[in-house]
Amino acid sequence: MSVLVVGSANTDILVRARRAPQPGETVLGGDAQVLPGGKGANQAVAAARAGAEVAFCGALGRDTFAPVVRQALTEAGIDLRYLRELDVPSGVALITISEDGENSITVASGANARLSADDLPERWDGVTHLLMQQEIPEATVLAAAQRTKAAGIKVLLNAAPARPLPAELWPLLDVLIVNEHELAQLSGAPEGQEEGAARSLLGRGLGRVIVTLGGRGSLAVDGEQVWRQPAHPVQVIDTTGAGDTFCGVLTAWLAGGAELAEALRAASVAGALACTRLGAQAAMPTHSEIEAALTGSAID
Ligand code: RIB
Ligand code: NA
Repeated sequence: MSVLVVGSANTDILVRARRAPQPGETVLGGDAQVLPGGKGANQAVAAARAGAEVAFCGALGRDTFAPVVRQALTEAGIDLRYLRELDVPSGVALITISEDGENSITVASGANARLSADDLPERWDGVTHLLMQQEIPEATVLAAAQRTKAAGIKVLLNAAPARPLPAELWPLLDVLIVNEHELAQLSGAPEGQEEGAARSLLGRGLGRVIVTLGGRGSLAVDGEQVWRQPAHPVQVIDTTGAGDTFCGVLTAWLAGGAELAEALRAASVAGALACTRLGAQAAMPTHSEIEAALTGSAID
């Protein structure tokens, strides 16, 4: 019924430039924009906008950046009782958007790197789905997965940014969501062989693997079945937060009782819509925008 996101919250400082700088190079861009971001907070907002009941567990600092994120989460109607405030800098992401809509991101983790297992909720009342990413410490992700799995909660991990997963984590995952680069890193298989690579990960004991493939759509596998979801065509302005939108909406749909194929379709459409506007949370579609795109009616 309800979704708990345990993850990062950042303030994104975004600049559009012709292209991202090479090492040692300076590139002149447009005006800076200061927007709420962070993969955890983004996924929480995506799920909430898609209609799920969402709580967020994360950490902010006590500085000028903290209110940017707190306000956005509050406006999205997210339960913030597990949002910690620590005496360290807040997370900040420096983002360059190039002309083709691709982004380059450097994250200053700040408070996110200090979110510990002690900061996790003590109870899981009403939570049916836990959604996490990898911008917080590995030990915190593992502890949250262990405790919620033991409580019968579905555990979803978006393995972004890529890092190796501890062996104990794999069998706790009901759903792993990766993009093609993360899939290649985790499986060791070359890019372009997604189905085989995704299948090879199932051997580590997890339930399902979902791979987002950008303009080529997405793919899901479990022990028996393969699902392929074509991309929803859009004009790309900024891909920042598209993956987060996918993960948040997928989880919202699953928490609402949808079958995987249906959730994959909604997530894919929502991820595409998020590319048509600048920013991460700023670009995320509402439930009715997703429904409109799913039924093919015109959306604004
Ligand atoms: O996935 C996009 C997010 O990654 C941005 O909002 C930025 O904060 C980084 O965490
Ligand atoms: Na965007």
